[in-house]
Amino acid sequence: MTKKRILSGMRATGTLHLGNYFGAAKGMVALQDDPNYKTFYMVADLHALTTPFNVEELRKNRHNVIADYLAIGLDPEKSTLFFQSMVPEHVELAYYFSTVVSVARMQHLPTFKEKVKQYPENVTMALLNYPVLMAADILVYQAELVPVGIDQEPHLEIAREIARKFNSQYGLSLPEPKRFQTSGEYVPSLTGEGKMSKSMPGSFIALTDDLETIKKKLAKVPTDSGKGKIKTITDTKKPGYQAKKRYIDSTTNQESKGVLALMTLVELFEGKEKRVKYEKAYESSGVRYGELKTYLAEVIYNEIKPIQEKKREILTQPGYIDEVIESGAKKARQVAGETVRMVRQAMGIAQLGINS
Ligand code: ADP
Ligand code: TRP
Repeated sequence: MTKKRILSGMRATGTLHLGNYFGAAKGMVALQDDPNYKTFYMVADLHALTTPFNVEELRKNRHNVIADYLAIGLDPEKSTLFFQSMVPEHVELAYYFSTVVSVARMQHLPTFKEKVKQYPENVTMALLNYPVLMAADILVYQAELVPVGIDQEPHLEIAREIARKFNSQYGLSLPEPKRFQTSGEYVPSLTGEGKMSKSMPGSFIALTDDLETIKKKLAKVPTDSGKGKIKTITDTKKPGYQAKKRYIDSTTNQESKGVLALMTLVELFEGKEKRVKYEKAYESSGVRYGELKTYLAEVIYNEIKPIQEKKREILTQPGYIDEVIESGAKKARQVAGETVRMVRQAMGIAQLGINS
């Protein structure tokens, strides 16, 4: 039986945080350890060029993300690890794909609009093309599953649209890639607004944070009187939709989004039952947030401490990361090269003498 292929990646923009860990990294490790799959994991260094960048920082960051990958348990014996820029086939395929994507479709994507707001001086073609390159990242390996957080769903939809168009225009059978769902597909920000994100200071706990830092960060999470009502919103029409909860403070009648962040972390680290226990207290005797936060800081630190130790060990081995990605890129290029040759053939451009 041929193994199904998996592709995922993270932009090279800094240290990983708990959102990356639960939304993507844990899924990446789980799929790597399943013998039914062949896993390709890259650092999206070319995607890091879509927003303002500094080359030295970018070099350090991409190295750092590979160290994080290895530290969380990705194993170069099982997974193919590399930098996106080491496999130029991604860019070539993205160019072919861009022939079937309208500018308007890209301009209307929520992720594009967010970046335009964030960097109004940097609305470039590279930014507009972000999802097309991402589609090429995935489809150049003909990957069927992509472990990423729910915020990446609009990009996966683009990849599926491109696959459908290429299949119908050129008689190909590219897979329509699906998201591999994890229980932490959306980790809320510690500020109570939006998702945990590197680009929002104060919103995240990094995998490299020490116990004191975690305690300080949790201490800042906005809470409420400790008592209130919980409303569960379900949308059964949406496939794969997970119930959303709202915590409504009994004294102010306002929604407490910081409490949602805390409860989500309790569930991710300690399981559903523990969350239910706190939720029962919220609806009866009340929750003491001081205690909850101290306990949570400890369980978070206990889980990430071994990752930090492993990362330190990896970083003391000179040349190890370079070796891993050199051999990863070689393997990746073989697969990517086959797909690009097949696409050129199907499009008829091999016969035209372009890159034949
Ligand atoms: P950031 O928003 O911090 O820059 P990235 O966009 O680099 O994070 O995301 C890397 C991966 O981590 C993606 O698969 C993304 O879906 C996932 N991810 C990022 N933030 C979260 C979050 N808060 N909850 C769940 N998954 C997340
Ligand atoms: N867009 C992804 C993010 O922000 C990074 C990424 C680039 C990616 N190419 C990919 C993720 C291909 C999965 C598959 O995190």
